[in-house]
Amino acid sequence: MRRTGTTSHRAHRRSAALCALALGAALTVTLPAPASAAARVDNPYAGATAYVNPDWSARASAEPGGSVIADEPSFVWMDRIAAIAGTSGARGLRAHLDTALAQGADLFQVVIYDLPGRDCAALASNGELGATEIDRYKNEYIDPIASILADPAYASLRIVALIEPDSLPNLVTNAGGSDGSTAACATMKANGNYEKGVGYALHTLGAIPNVYNYVDAAHHGWLGWDSNFVPAAQEFRKAAATEGAAVSDVHGFIVNTANYSSLKEPYFKVTDAVNGTTVRQSKWVDWNYYVDELSFAQALRTELVRQGFAPDIGMLVDTARNGWGGSARPGAAGPQTSVDAYVDGGRVDRRIHAGNWCNQSGAGIGERPTAAPEPGIDAYVWAKPPGESDGNSQPVDNDEGKGFDRMCDPTYTGNGRNGYNPSGALPGAPLAGHWFSAQFQELLRNAYPPLNGQGA
Ligand code: BGC
Repeated sequence: MRRTGTTSHRAHRRSAALCALALGAALTVTLPAPASAAARVDNPYAGATAYVNPDWSARASAEPGGSVIADEPSFVWMDRIAAIAGTSGARGLRAHLDTALAQGADLFQVVIYDLPGRDCAALASNGELGATEIDRYKNEYIDPIASILADPAYASLRIVALIEPDSLPNLVTNAGGSDGSTAACATMKANGNYEKGVGYALHTLGAIPNVYNYVDAAHHGWLGWDSNFVPAAQEFRKAAATEGAAVSDVHGFIVNTANYSSLKEPYFKVTDAVNGTTVRQSKWVDWNYYVDELSFAQALRTELVRQGFAPDIGMLVDTARNGWGGSARPGAAGPQTSVDAYVDGGRVDRRIHAGNWCNQSGAGIGERPTAAPEPGIDAYVWAKPPGESDGNSQPVDNDEGKGFDRMCDPTYTGNGRNGYNPSGALPGAPLAGHWFSAQFQELLRNAYPPLNGQGA
C-alpha cells in the first residue's frame, strides 16, 4: 500500500460496489455503470501496463546501447495544437492511443502543455499561444483533446494527464517582482490565464471517467523554501476551483517534471549539522527545507491535503534524468571540515546550482518507471523522454514558437533564478523536444541505478 494513513475513500467506494455485486449475484441484475469518480482506481499505475511510444523507442534503440531502455514507457507531449493531429515528426493523439490499444497497454500518459503565454520565466519552450489567447486554448486545444480521450474506444485505458508543467509555480515565485521575476510571468498572474487554463483543463478532462489528472508541482529546488511551499499549495488549490474545476478533478501531483533534482540524497539529511552549522546553511542547500525529491513530494502531499485536496491524492516523480551515477557519483558522505565540504563532497546531484534546468552536464537516467515505490508516491515515471533536448544552446530559427534561453548556453553566467551561476548546460543542443544524441549517450553512461549490463 502506498498510503501511510487509513484506507482511502476511493477504496471504500469500490468495496461497496463489489459488495453490491456479490449480493446481487444470485439474481439477474444489470448494475449501472459506476459513477465516474468511483470508476477510477486509487493508483492508476498499480498493476498497469503502460504504453511505450514507438517513435521515441525507435530513436532510443538507434543509439549505441539505447536498446536497454527502449522498452520503457514515457509521456507523449501535446506541446502545440498541431501535435493533436500529428506533425511530420510525431504521430497524433489518436494514433498514439490506437497504438497503445494494439500494444495491449492499459495505461496511457500524456502531457498537456500549451497554455497561453507558456513558460513565462524562460524562453526555450515559449509556445504558440499569446498571453491573452485563452479562448484558443480552450476551443482549439483542450476541447479537441478531450473529445479524443472521451472516445469509448479508449475507455479501457487509464489515461494519466500531466497538467501544464511550470505554469502555476511560475506564478508563485517568478511573478512578484523579486530577483528572477519576469514581466511575462507578472502578465500571466495579472490576467489569470494560467489559472483559467489549468482550471478549464482539470474540469474538462476530469469529466472523463478514465482520465487521471496530475498537476505539475515543480521540484524541491524551486518550491522547497517556506516562502514558496505553502503559497504553492494554495495556488494549486485556487486553480482547482477556477473555471468549474473542483478538487475531485485532481488525482494527484507530479514533481521534477523534465528536471534533474535527485530522488534521494543518501549521504546527508536536511537535519544534519557540521560543527554546529546546519546543512541548510550550506551554499548548495541555501536554506531550503528539502534536499531531494522524495522527501519534498511526500511533504508536499501532506500540505496539499491540508489545503483541501483529497486525502488519497498520489504523487508522481519524473525520474527520467535524475540518476546522477557514473564516475562522478560520490560513494560516501563528504568530509566534516566545513558544512560546504560535507554537502558538496556527499551530494549525488552534481549540478552547479539546483536552479539549473537545461540539458545538464553529468546527469544520468534515473529510476526506471515503477508503480507505488514509496508511501504516498503513485509512481516513478518518465515524463521527459530521455534524449529530447530541453532547449537550444544557440539561437535557432523555428516555427514552434521556441526562443533562445541562455540557460541552455554553456557559456552563460546565469540570472537571479540560478544565483548567477554558470548554466551547466551541454553544448550543441537542438531545439526543445528535438533529439539530442550526445545527451542521450551521457544519460546512459551516468544512469543510476546503473543499466543492465553496465558497471556501477
Ligand atoms: C518542449 C516540447 C517537447 C517536450 C518533451 C519541452 O521542453 O518544449 O516541445 O515536446 O519538452 O521533450
